[in-house]
Amino acid sequence: MSADSGPGPGPGPGLDPEPGPGICARRVVIVTGGGRGLGRAHARAYAAEGARVVVNDLGAGLDGSGASGDPAQGVVEEIRAAGGEAIAHYGDIATPDGAASLVTTALETYGRLDTLVNNAGFLRDRMLVNLDEDDWDAVVRVHLKGHFLPLKHAAAHWRTECKAGREPRACVVNTSSGAGLSGSVGQGNYSAAKAAILGLTLVASAELAAYGVRVNAIAPAARTRMTERTFADTMAAPVDGGFDAMAPENVSPLVVWLGSEASAGVTGRVFEAEAGRITVMEGWRPGPSADKGARWGAAEAGEAALKLLSRAEPPQPVYGAR
Ligand SMILES: NC(=O)c1ccc[n+]([C@@H]2O[C@H](COP(=O)([O-])OP(=O)(O)OC[C@H]3O[C@@H](n4cnc5c(N)ncnc54)[C@H](O)[C@@H]3O)[C@@H](O)[C@H]2O)c1
Repeated sequence: MSADSGPGPGPGPGLDPEPGPGICARRVVIVTGGGRGLGRAHARAYAAEGARVVVNDLGAGLDGSGASGDPAQGVVEEIRAAGGEAIAHYGDIATPDGAASLVTTALETYGRLDTLVNNAGFLRDRMLVNLDEDDWDAVVRVHLKGHFLPLKHAAAHWRTECKAGREPRACVVNTSSGAGLSGSVGQGNYSAAKAAILGLTLVASAELAAYGVRVNAIAPAARTRMTERTFADTMAAPVDGGFDAMAPENVSPLVVWLGSEASAGVTGRVFEAEAGRITVMEGWRPGPSADKGARWGAAEAGEAALKLLSRAEPPQPVYGAR
């Protein structure tokens, strides 16, 4: 499937956006997987802050199978009904054509691209001994390649803009997971892909700074079709009408800020976002260390390692570990 070919209401190629209300006024924002769950909430939140949004969604099933234009088109209609600007893109972001046409859709429709939110994905949970190669490949592909390809095409555009003297003030928000930060039992494929996205975020942040591009990542938690059954108790909406802590809309304000010029100076960072809580995650850094100044013997290395471990912080527990 290809991009929605409807005419875009933007200012057209080469023209600067008009200022308007909201912290993303007139910015052009791509949200992958924007047809459902967290992506839908992000797309609507960006539009509410004045952004023009390219809502990408393949309309895949829970395990990544199938395709439908309805989710992306539905969110575009919701945004337009609320007075915002949006266009749908139905491609698979983990393919070169899908990723390239996504960026082209933003440029041809609105004449610019300011923010890329990499969010699309699906799960195929299995314990490692039962994890088929297909399930490994599909999940690593959609999350990791599905981040890399849109990032590569967007970054190539921003580099061209920078070289032409129009320094972008561009942002990328990647989507990792607690599974990528701490590991999650039954999610070896997903945890590996989500951890790799953190490495990609750090490299992209360092490489693209010269072109005026900032790159951050979030690890969200919210009630979507991905989580509503497995974590039914913790994800349930309150019956008394109180704060719906696990609503995906609670994650979006941070994502919108990270995708706006208001977060200038913030790059290469990872945030957990869930309910009313935002947490800066602090990553791998050297802990206790010993240097013999020569090669250790194996038993001696083990003795030294145990001493260091006794002084080290214990690791975060793996989700679902007994
Ligand atoms: N829900 C949570 O608690 C949670 C926790 C941690 C991380 N995440 C991550 O947040 C992101 C969004 O998840 P969600 O919970 O909203 O899930 P969701 O299933 O509600 O939405 C994901 C969307 O991505 C789309 N998609 C799948 N493959 C695609 C492809 N190849 N190209 C384009 N679109 C595709 C699907 O059609 C779907 O609409 C995912 O990356 C997920 O791993 C979610």
